[in-house]
Amino acid sequence: MKENVIVASRLCRQFEIDDVIVEAVKNLELTVQEGEFISIYGPSGAGKTTLLNLMGALDKPTSGKIVIFDHDLGKYDENFLATFRLAYIGFVFQSYNLISTLTASENIAFVVELAGWSRERIKDRSETLLNLVGLEHRANHFPAQLSGGERQRVAFARALANDPPLLLVDEPTGNLDTETGLEIVNILKKIKEEGKTVIVATHDEKLLKLASRSLCLKDGRLINR
Ligand SMILES: Nc1ncnc2c1ncn2[C@@H]1O[C@H](COP(=O)(O)OP(=O)(O)OP(=O)(O)O)[C@@H](O)[C@H]1O
Ligand SMILES: [Mg+2]
Repeated sequence: MKENVIVASRLCRQFEIDDVIVEAVKNLELTVQEGEFISIYGPSGAGKTTLLNLMGALDKPTSGKIVIFDHDLGKYDENFLATFRLAYIGFVFQSYNLISTLTASENIAFVVELAGWSRERIKDRSETLLNLVGLEHRANHFPAQLSGGERQRVAFARALANDPPLLLVDEPTGNLDTETGLEIVNILKKIKEEGKTVIVATHDEKLLKLASRSLCLKDGRLINR
């Protein structure tokens, strides 16, 4: 039987600013199994990024529960969660979040340095991943010297560096033209074929088609269309 990767029950994340409460994720019930490729779509402000942050152990629920690979994330401190993320989660952010003072290959390498890899193995891994995303000729470029699509591809390579079983991707083609977006779709296709569990927040029809299941989020709730 396939393992459950994500189990969310009555999951809520509220934000409170100046006495105004925003229920960004509300009473969400969800189970995701190993190897699923799930897309999450819905209007701006629906809670997609908030939900991905909860799944990626970057944020904690205000109530309810989210269990990832049998870890109830609300129960752990930040130290444990940092180690947990390194081992289990790859995150591709809506705004790339590359480290501006590191080159493309250093942005990838630094993840596996944290994981304690040897220098030789790190070099191999970084080359393999730059190859996968078609950027071997940009290894020594800094983020500011890369195009938006190239930065996005480095962000994918970095997210995959430690071979995490769960990959979370936030609007990967949102800021890209159609052709560059297609390169990202192709990278995600390859990742899907490897059998990783993937969750992608997207409006992109091509990515929605790639998904084995699509979830619609509106006002923090999952709705059936
Ligand atoms: N750190 C925060 N503090 C306060 N409110 C927040 C915070 N993060 C998100 N929100 C609110 O929660 C709601 C959901 O935001 P979220 O970023 O998850 O939406 P989204 O579906 O990812 O939107 P988009 O498609 O524009 O990226 C919004 O109303 C937003 O204003
Ligand atoms: Mg978002």
